[in-house]
Amino acid sequence: MGFSILSLDQSHDLKSFNCGNIALNTWLQNTSRQHQKKNLSRTFVLIQDSSPTTIIGYYSLAIRGLTLTEALPQNMKKTLPLNVPAMTLARLAVSLQEQKKGHGERLLLDAMEQVKTASSLIGGSFLFVDAKDTNLAKFYTHYEFVALPDDPLTLCMLIANIP
Ligand SMILES: CC(C)(COP(=O)(O)OP(=O)(O)OC[C@H]1O[C@@H](n2cnc3c(N)ncnc32)[C@H](O)[C@@H]1OP(=O)(O)O)[C@@H](O)C(=O)NCCC(=O)NCCS
Repeated sequence: MGFSILSLDQSHDLKSFNCGNIALNTWLQNTSRQHQKKNLSRTFVLIQDSSPTTIIGYYSLAIRGLTLTEALPQNMKKTLPLNVPAMTLARLAVSLQEQKKGHGERLLLDAMEQVKTASSLIGGSFLFVDAKDTNLAKFYTHYEFVALPDDPLTLCMLIANIP
């Protein structure tokens, strides 16, 4: 069973996607293509090769802009300027019937790889993610993200540490 992660395009069926979170469904359905057109963020979808229009899951990446070094975990802020350039995993979701089959991990690892490639071209020190709740924050710490000391639902990783 082959799977691919592709840049969102007109062929993908946005309307049928349901991950159980209305905000993440609505964003994909109403905003993702506009963002793509305006270069505000980039969305990538996971599909099964035998059913290429059905979205199993998606993630979106965006520039986070300059982030205050002061907010970073202690061991990450050494020898850095006052602000650091960063990217953000703005959204990550898997459709309800496909959750807990490893697709979230597949999407997250792909997003990290894309961020590493982007960083090798234009710089960018950190990848951030804003977890919706403490349970999801645990999901990200599983993949080496570290919570900000004063904001446990915001997590980051050094892009240089992405394998
Ligand atoms: C969070 C989400 C993307 C995970 O996707 P998934 O395909 O179900 O996850 P996977 O099957 O790849 O699981 C990977 C690992 O994360 C763990 N995990 C999965 N969902 C988790 C959650 N909500 N909280 C904590 N850990 C979680 C799994 O147990 C697994 O760990 P293991 O390998 O040790 O068993 C998915 O549940 C989802 O889309 N939820 C609704 C939307 C959402 O909340 N998105 C996140 C916004 S911050």
